Amino acid sequence: MRVAVLGGGKIGEAVASRLVLSKSIEFVTVTRRNVRKSGLKGKKVKVTVNNLAAVAASDVIIISVKPGDARTLLRLIRQKTEGKLVISLMAAITVKSLEEALPGTRVVRAMPNIAALVGEAVTAYSPGANVTEDDIRNIEFIISTFGESIRVPESMMDAITALSGSGPAYIALLIEAMVSAGLKVGIPRETAFQLATKTLTGTAGLLRERMMHPAELRDTVTTPAGTTIAGIYELEKGSVRTSIMNAVEAATLAARKISSDFEGRV
Ligand SMILES: NC(=O)c1ccc[n+]([C@@H]2O[C@H](COP(=O)([O-])OP(=O)(O)OC[C@H]3O[C@@H](n4cnc5c(N)ncnc54)[C@H](OP(=O)(O)O)[C@@H]3O)[C@@H](O)[C@H]2O)c1
Repeated sequence: MRVAVLGGGKIGEAVASRLVLSKSIEFVTVTRRNVRKSGLKGKKVKVTVNNLAAVAASDVIIISVKPGDARTLLRLIRQKTEGKLVISLMAAITVKSLEEALPGTRVVRAMPNIAALVGEAVTAYSPGANVTEDDIRNIEFIISTFGESIRVPESMMDAITALSGSGPAYIALLIEAMVSAGLKVGIPRETAFQLATKTLTGTAGLLRERMMHPAELRDTVTTPAGTTIAGIYELEKGSVRTSIMNAVEAATLAARKISSDFEGRV
């Protein structure tokens, strides 16, 4: 399978760097405006400014430019995309808008996150009506090169963009706060970083493996008059739960605004 990644920025480059590791991927052509900024190298990858040549040379087209750059790109490539499978990683742009902009294509909207760089992304995807069962197999294979996939109705996509697309930024902020907290109570920075990151991945692993409700785990480790309840009391005073819910809601509304701005311009 030959894949084009149009827009080799942060997420495009992360995805391309994982795709090239797969034996089933023959070649990956990545485009960007300034090829000198690319960190991609290797026998199976080429970085170019030429979007039309990249589309012509590929079976599957992944689009990962910013929504603001999408209109120009879509207008340019529509002459070469007919019959191809198009996977859009762009926030907020609907399957319908993409199908209208690229007639004769089979379109999938997908939302990964930056953990793709280490093969640990979770990617939600919604196929358009023309997508075949063969395409679904190919999409799930492509997504598997950079993490796990979950098929969802498109109506959830803006919310998923806000939860797991933007999620690594929230988690990074949380880890940053735990490292600062460690420093405040006398733990060296590197030790605090190791403790904070492993506590996060370990807790997530435990919850998933045991299919445990987070509240059950929290209760299990919270003993009367112990250390954990002292910490939890402060977290509840700081409305951490409400802040996280508000953050995801605000990000969902931001995604919807980008979407309606884009629809207005197509
Ligand atoms: N970053 C994430 O964690 C993440 C996660 C999920 C989804 N997304 C979605 O992915 C898209 C890209 O996000 P990003 O964070 O990766 O942005 P980014 O780092 O700015 O990457 C966008 C890339 O598009 C390239 N580009 C712009 N116009 C182009 C054109 N006409 N032809 C070829 N390349 C072009 C830019 O090239 P130059 O740099 O050379 O100018 C840039 O490298 C967005 O729609 C975002 O919603 C991002």
